[in-house]
Amino acid sequence: MFITFEGPDGSGKSTQAVLLADYLRAQGRPVYLTHEPGGTEIGDQVRQVLHDLKNQGMHAATEVLLYAASRAQLVAQEIRPRLAAGEIVICDRYADSTLAYQGYGRGLDLKALHHLLDFATGGLTPDLTLYLDISAEAGLQRRQHAAEDGAEWNRMDAQSLEFHRRVREGYVALIAGDPVRWVTVEAANERDAIHKQICAAVLYRLAELEKPG
Ligand code: TYD
Repeated sequence: MFITFEGPDGSGKSTQAVLLADYLRAQGRPVYLTHEPGGTEIGDQVRQVLHDLKNQGMHAATEVLLYAASRAQLVAQEIRPRLAAGEIVICDRYADSTLAYQGYGRGLDLKALHHLLDFATGGLTPDLTLYLDISAEAGLQRRQHAAEDGAEWNRMDAQSLEFHRRVREGYVALIAGDPVRWVTVEAANERDAIHKQICAAVLYRLAELEKPG
């Protein structure tokens, strides 16, 4: 089973991805938790270029190709082999981030992005995508507080509020286009309540996938 987490910056999805991985491991299931951009040695180098605040002059096409490059490496090197070995793979961000950020956020052509994503991933689509919903304002505020406490503040965080609003609207449109794959969780709720909701959604989808026939 391939599970992805999506959401605007500051939605708390990375925390929830770790909690879910721990929960499934405690049930004795083999779990591989990874994230984007990065997750491989090559991908981590690409991530540095993408996040460097010095790279303000990066063209939108360059940006999308770098995210796709990091993803292509992660899919080929880690995700596909582990899915083939029967592991549950959890990825903190995946192709939908490209559609939301580079498509809706930057305004790149969505059709072209779909072709690029297909090329980079060989068409690998998640079985379940957990979306942690938060307004652009609240998400950015959370990121700013975290940065004051020493967390990374990267080139994407530093985009305008308008950009982050378009990203969130993009997610809403993506979910409307494929409501079965996505499960939306209100990110403003308590951490434990969100975790329980996520576990329930995952167990439900697992049962569906494990049904004979
Ligand atoms: P990261 O520090 O991993 O943040 P987060 O905890 O929000 O995932 O930063 C990843 C940033 O890159 C985030 O702002 C979203 C952005 N991004 C894209 O713009 N396109 C993509 O395809 C991906 C995977 C991420």
